[in-house]
Amino acid sequence: MSTLEILQFPDPGLRHRARPVVELDTAALRGQAQDMLETMYSASGIGLAAIQVGIDKRLIVMDISEDRGNPVVLVNPELLVRKGRRSMTEGCLSVPDYTDTVERADRIRYRALKLDGSPVEEWCDGLLATCIQHEIDHLDGRLFIDRLSLLKSRRVRKKLEKAHRSGVPQPLPAGVQSAVL
Ligand code: NI
Repeated sequence: MSTLEILQFPDPGLRHRARPVVELDTAALRGQAQDMLETMYSASGIGLAAIQVGIDKRLIVMDISEDRGNPVVLVNPELLVRKGRRSMTEGCLSVPDYTDTVERADRIRYRALKLDGSPVEEWCDGLLATCIQHEIDHLDGRLFIDRLSLLKSRRVRKKLEKAHRSGVPQPLPAGVQSAVL
């Protein structure tokens, strides 16, 4: 296992639509999922999409548990139904200096494959639903800052691009790590 470099906004690699995984149950796919989990854990995130580490696959890893002992890997995840609205403060491992409130569906039904190719289809809500929606956005080349109001999104992007150019790292405020997806 190894940790991978996480692409940072405004890297253009974060902006394309990832390709579906065709070959399931392979050692290569398992290895990539393991590396992604290790990368996510070492960066204190609760979710990571393959596109964020330069892997062009519809593959996401998550762990929303308190003790960081419940890894979830989903291949080719798709949203089937969205219900209700819920606002949550989100951050992102690819947008390290910023958190903001994003409104998404509160309850979703999704389907995906597990690493061995077996299908999973279920309802979920709360933090898991937020996380899955955030990660699927990544697979479609979207970031949570795109979901702010147009004016705000433009202002935030400008600010982050400037910070990126200056190269000055800004630590995340305390207490927001659980929302870094
Ligand atoms: Ni993210």
